[in-house]
Amino acid sequence: MMSFTIAIDGPAAAGKGTLSRMIAAHYGFQHLDTGLTYRAAAKAMLDQGLPLDDEVLAAGFAGKVDLSGLDRSVLSAHGIGEAASKIAVMPAVRRELVEAQRRFAAREPGTVLDGRDIGTVVCPDAPVKLFVTASPEVRARRRFDEIIASGEAADYERIFAEVRQRDERDMNRADSPLKPAADAHLLDTSEMSIEAAFRAARSLIDAALKQE
Ligand code: DC
Repeated sequence: MMSFTIAIDGPAAAGKGTLSRMIAAHYGFQHLDTGLTYRAAAKAMLDQGLPLDDEVLAAGFAGKVDLSGLDRSVLSAHGIGEAASKIAVMPAVRRELVEAQRRFAAREPGTVLDGRDIGTVVCPDAPVKLFVTASPEVRARRRFDEIIASGEAADYERIFAEVRQRDERDMNRADSPLKPAADAHLLDTSEMSIEAAFRAARSLIDAALKQE
């Protein structure tokens, strides 16, 4: 039996992480948030006070990322996301991490990978590709609400500016920019609940599973 891979891409804070976890739990598939792999490499460099603009050095850290030791609660810090986005523009870093991600994707019985380039580069043959998006205003508002709910202070205008800046960097880099694969299904969650997005995703996945 071959592994069945579901590729989920989209910009930061579009809801793809939550959706990916729900899909993986529903189908009994293993899930990899590939953003965490970029974050883990960036954090290792930050911890040692190393400059983030040295590609050879960064690729060395990327090659050492252990997929079984990715801790979301540690890696979700905003500063780590910014650092990850900087080293993610480097082709040598991407080569290392993409290789590890492809090995993960082959795990049986199936896998869900989410990120920016899963449908276009990491798993171009995935039988289901979703591109989950939402307007920058909605994404900034969700981030803002999350921070407030966690009891911290937040500034909406600043978060909105950061969302735009991250989009800019992820969409305009030369290597593997964020964009939907030609055969990806678009899910705009701006005015859709996570349950409705999950239902839409399930009907696409169920249809693809029937064809296997
Ligand atoms: O999804 P995230 O915020 O955890 O991702 C952090 C950064 O990692 C993001 O700004 C771009 C990069 N990234 C990437 O280039 N390719 C991926 N497949 C996943 C993340």
